[in-house]
Amino acid sequence: MRSLLFVPGDSEKKLSRAMASGADALIIDLEDSVAAEMKPAAREATCAFLVAHRALAGRPRLMVRVNALDTGLTDDDLAAVMPGRPDLIMLPKAGGGADVALLDGRIAVHEALNGIEDGVTGILPVATETAAAVFQLGTYAGASARLAGLTWGAEDLSADISAETNRAPDGRHTEPFRLVRSLCLFGAVAAGVQPIDTVFPAFRDEAGLRLECEEARRDGYTGKMAIHPAQVPVINAVFSPDAASIEEARRVVAAFAAQPAAGVVNIGGEMFDRPHLKRAERLLARAAAFAAG
Ligand code: COA
Ligand code: MG
Repeated sequence: MRSLLFVPGDSEKKLSRAMASGADALIIDLEDSVAAEMKPAAREATCAFLVAHRALAGRPRLMVRVNALDTGLTDDDLAAVMPGRPDLIMLPKAGGGADVALLDGRIAVHEALNGIEDGVTGILPVATETAAAVFQLGTYAGASARLAGLTWGAEDLSADISAETNRAPDGRHTEPFRLVRSLCLFGAVAAGVQPIDTVFPAFRDEAGLRLECEEARRDGYTGKMAIHPAQVPVINAVFSPDAASIEEARRVVAAFAAQPAAGVVNIGGEMFDRPHLKRAERLLARAAAFAAG
């Protein structure tokens, strides 16, 4: 998943617009973007949307962001949307691997109740929304076979730590949030799942978004969440392996294939060793996955 577009679950207009956005996944929101009194209607609209769009060919993956485990709303959210067979459930304010294991069990019940094959519904936690959660970023490995990625959020964490802002005047994240961004990346890779970068809220600032996407890709993130359809093409472009990197990766793989016993090779006057090979193979695997749709 390169791009994951948030859509408020109570907005039928945005839901229908989101389908044409080109996003790899939609995150239909029942949490922060839906007011408390709108939640029952949003649950209903979300399930109806899932039922109406599940069978469409070439559709984005459909994910639902439920309310956090400590709100008392999660089970009602699941009961309302699981009949629509969402591909994934996003867990906000995740407190670590134990929360994912807990949600795993609850989802399993709803899969059984709805005749859904056991284990097919994935989980994507938002893993950094409280200070305490930051210290649990290393606990996701092995928590659940449903774990599909790890992402992070800056807005709720800002409130939790009473930060005046999470971005400097130049638009880049301030130090506490840069640290958390790095820890989320390590936590995701350590758990063997996709690291997905947080949202860029200034949705009219295309250059700022592009820069943030490029920095995320440079560091190892392979996708990013969006809040507005205009952000989707930028995110897709930056996170699609480009022709030059594919060509370079092919050169690395070919050089090692030509010298199977070599631990290190010389390509055009530069040293390439096993870690470069591993990175090249991963990039080619990602490119092949996109090519296959
Ligand atoms: N998904 C689908 N459609 C969206 C959209 C989204 N996330 N954001 C905007 N649109 C639609 C608008 O409805 C509008 O449609 P129209 O042309 O048919 O009227 C069009 O795109 C242009 O929108 P624009 O006028 O630029 O912005 P807006 O003022 O309507 O919406 C936000 C701005 C921020 C309210 C809106 O982008 C949004 O709701 N984003 C998601 C917020 C969210 O889910 N947050 C939780 C996670 S952080
Ligand atoms: Mg939030």
